[in-house]
Amino acid sequence: MCGIVGYIGKQKAAPILIEGLKRLEYRGYDSAGISIIGKNKITTIKSVGKVSSLEDKIGGKSIAGNVGIAHTRWATHGKPSDKNSHPHGDCKGNIFLVHNGIIENYIELKSSLAKKGHKFKSETDSEVIVHLIEEFNKKLDFKNAVLEALKLIKGTYGLAIINKKEPEKIIAARLGSPLVLGIGGDEYVIASDASAVVRHTNQVIYLEDGEVAVIEKDNYEVTDIKDKSKNKKITKLDWSIEEAEKQGFDHFMLKEIFEQPKAIEDATRGRLVVSEGTAKLGGLRDVADKLRKLDRIIIVSCGTSYYAGLVGEYMLEEYAGIPVEVEYASEFRYRKPILDEKTAVLAISQSGETADTLEAIREGNNKGAITLGIVNTVGSTIARETTAGVYNHAGPEIGVASTKAFTSQLSVLILLTLLLGRQRQMSYVMGKRIASEMKKIPKQVEEILSQSKEIKKIAKKYLKYKNILYLGRKYNEPIALEGALKIKEISYIHAEGYPSGEMKHGPIALIDENFPSVFVVPKDSVYEKNISGMQEIKARGGKIIAIATEGDKEIKKHADDVIYIPKTLEMLTPLLSVVPLQLLAYYVGTGLGYDVDKPRNLAKSVTVE
Ligand code: AGP
Ligand code: GLU
Repeated sequence: MCGIVGYIGKQKAAPILIEGLKRLEYRGYDSAGISIIGKNKITTIKSVGKVSSLEDKIGGKSIAGNVGIAHTRWATHGKPSDKNSHPHGDCKGNIFLVHNGIIENYIELKSSLAKKGHKFKSETDSEVIVHLIEEFNKKLDFKNAVLEALKLIKGTYGLAIINKKEPEKIIAARLGSPLVLGIGGDEYVIASDASAVVRHTNQVIYLEDGEVAVIEKDNYEVTDIKDKSKNKKITKLDWSIEEAEKQGFDHFMLKEIFEQPKAIEDATRGRLVVSEGTAKLGGLRDVADKLRKLDRIIIVSCGTSYYAGLVGEYMLEEYAGIPVEVEYASEFRYRKPILDEKTAVLAISQSGETADTLEAIREGNNKGAITLGIVNTVGSTIARETTAGVYNHAGPEIGVASTKAFTSQLSVLILLTLLLGRQRQMSYVMGKRIASEMKKIPKQVEEILSQSKEIKKIAKKYLKYKNILYLGRKYNEPIALEGALKIKEISYIHAEGYPSGEMKHGPIALIDENFPSVFVVPKDSVYEKNISGMQEIKARGGKIIAIATEGDKEIKKHADDVIYIPKTLEMLTPLLSVVPLQLLAYYVGTGLGYDVDKPRNLAKSVTVE
């Protein structure tokens, strides 16, 4: 989902900006560009395609100048092309800017600016902003011209702007598209997320919606768009650039699949209290009494995080005795939900910037509900706009396909179930049982990961198929949905997840020898029901991959391939059963030759609605 980088300091800007764009590539994009302020001129180079095409265009040219901005575009208005790429300049080439977001009133702004003689070079919505600033800059200084222009804009923006007439300055502004300012010793880096900043500094401030930062060589100032000064807290990033590197794995996705034992440990460290059969969540301490009075939870999230919510629904209802609804955040916003102070709206989001989930939280805040977050990215908007929450501490997740964040989300949901359950009817004995079984999970995930070579062999047998059905029941129905999402988003094979009880209500019509199924069938309370579903499929010639519990020999009679997972409590099986499906998707996607870290059409964080 596009990316912005800006640099001002003592070093040459160009190489720093290009390196920053590379750190943001995982967010998804279709073109890239750069503008650098030199001696009384601004050099702008931009190119459709990858950052490497931009580098080719720059070639051996060494672009002088230590102030600049750069952009990876995810086109919304105007097709991907050189001229529609950012940065966009004003009529005279004095001002250049990069923009993330959508300007909803760009057509009327463009026509009124054209009437004043402005000439537009691109089809984008973004270009109107630079001409608007140019217009105001005829009478106002750079900063006030920007503030006046922002007052006329409707829509969302993350902006970085430079001006040849005030060359020692970058102005950044945020409304709906995240921006983080890295504060170095004698340099500043502004970027869409911390992965483009962390190489330079771990001291950052997060701009909030409606804020504007004026960044100079040795100072920065943050105001709102009415120029009222804002006092910003400096946050220390809790991860290093090494953690964001591939560390010898072929892809970030594989690295992050293998990081899951550590991610689960990090999510539960200091929080899982086996001796008391409960969980301690510091981020919820101030709302403990409100949680005690809760009579309903609505989980709002998207994609993989939505499936984590579905697993949470089962465990919270069964073990904490609280009614739970799980809503697609993109749908929740259009309902007229009945919310009150005894309803919790719980957002689950790895990035903490997903626009739909953020809007759902804002709806919850507006309607007086207590809003909670399970978020991985420290300081992200959702983390800041919820009443209280729990950070995953899973470290940066770079691969577009979410893996370690998902099992980390499940881990936090288990902690939340323990906390809320023990506030209610859950006994000490049950709490202790869950907590001690949870302690074993990281090692059990290691055991599954050690089968990766066998899983790769199985994956090879399924490269040729164009459709796959994923099936599961109860706690593992959401895992069937997640398994289908994983394989479709990185291998482009059509895959559907379904409750296996639904087979006979339609999907079984699809089954033949060209339409295989993946069955998540651990030895749990619905095992026998799943076996009959498998028999129905086999009877129609369908191939089956089964995810089954270690020691289950019976399953081999009903499946063509079996991947075993260790035995655990039914409510904990999703933490284990998802891992073979992640590896299966990874080996199918790479087996088909796709770039599984940056799948086509997808973005890591969907910050547009
Ligand atoms: C999952 O692999 C996808 N990357 C996508 O569905 C993702 O889970 C969804 O966009 C939600 O993102 P979030 O967790 O950052 O809010
Ligand atoms: N809406 C702008 C465009 O289409 C910016 C898109 C983005 O966020 O990259 O160029």
